[in-house]
Amino acid sequence: MFAASVLAVAALAFASGAAAESHQVTFTNNCGYGTPLFLYQGNSNPQGATTIQGELNGGIAWLENGSCTTNGLNCGAVEFTLQDTGYSQADITLEPEGNHNYVTSLGFNFINGCSTGLFCDSPTCSEASFTPTQVPLVDCQANDCGINITFC
Ligand SMILES: *[C@@H]1O[C@H](CO)[C@@H](O)[C@H](O)[C@H]1NC(C)=O
Ligand SMILES: *[C@@H]1O[C@H](CO)[C@@H](O)[C@H](O)[C@H]1NC(C)=O
Repeated sequence: MFAASVLAVAALAFASGAAAESHQVTFTNNCGYGTPLFLYQGNSNPQGATTIQGELNGGIAWLENGSCTTNGLNCGAVEFTLQDTGYSQADITLEPEGNHNYVTSLGFNFINGCSTGLFCDSPTCSEASFTPTQVPLVDCQANDCGINITFC
């Protein structure tokens, strides 16, 4: 009896481990044009809204409208890392050094555990990073949090 319940607990722990980490990426495109895309470390093919199994490191999202290159260069972008470590973070990059610049207003909010975010509505907004040494960041400590990225 005792042995059986120990086994049951072990099976449960395994099942919740197997349910595993996942992170939703969703987009709100209010521009009326363009295709929101993102890529991340481990999958460099730009894709639309989806849920990623496992850690999502080095995510970058942009609004493709014919003038950005495949990793969001020449456009503003949202950078994000979503992990079950308590350190999910995101920022808006408009760094000229990284070949990013303002084309439309853009921003994000965390979902599935947090709702904090940033929104930049001008080429001189204080919510975006223009230099690698000054990056306004927002973080979320919730496991399996996702991100809602907005253009316009
Ligand atoms: C995207 O394309 C639309 C339609 O061609 C155009 O009106 C708009 O100005 C473009 N926006 C950007 C940010 O390039
Ligand atoms: C996503 O962002 C848009 C624009 O800010 C907002 O209206 C919407 O409520 C957000 N969705 C979620 C699930 O947070």
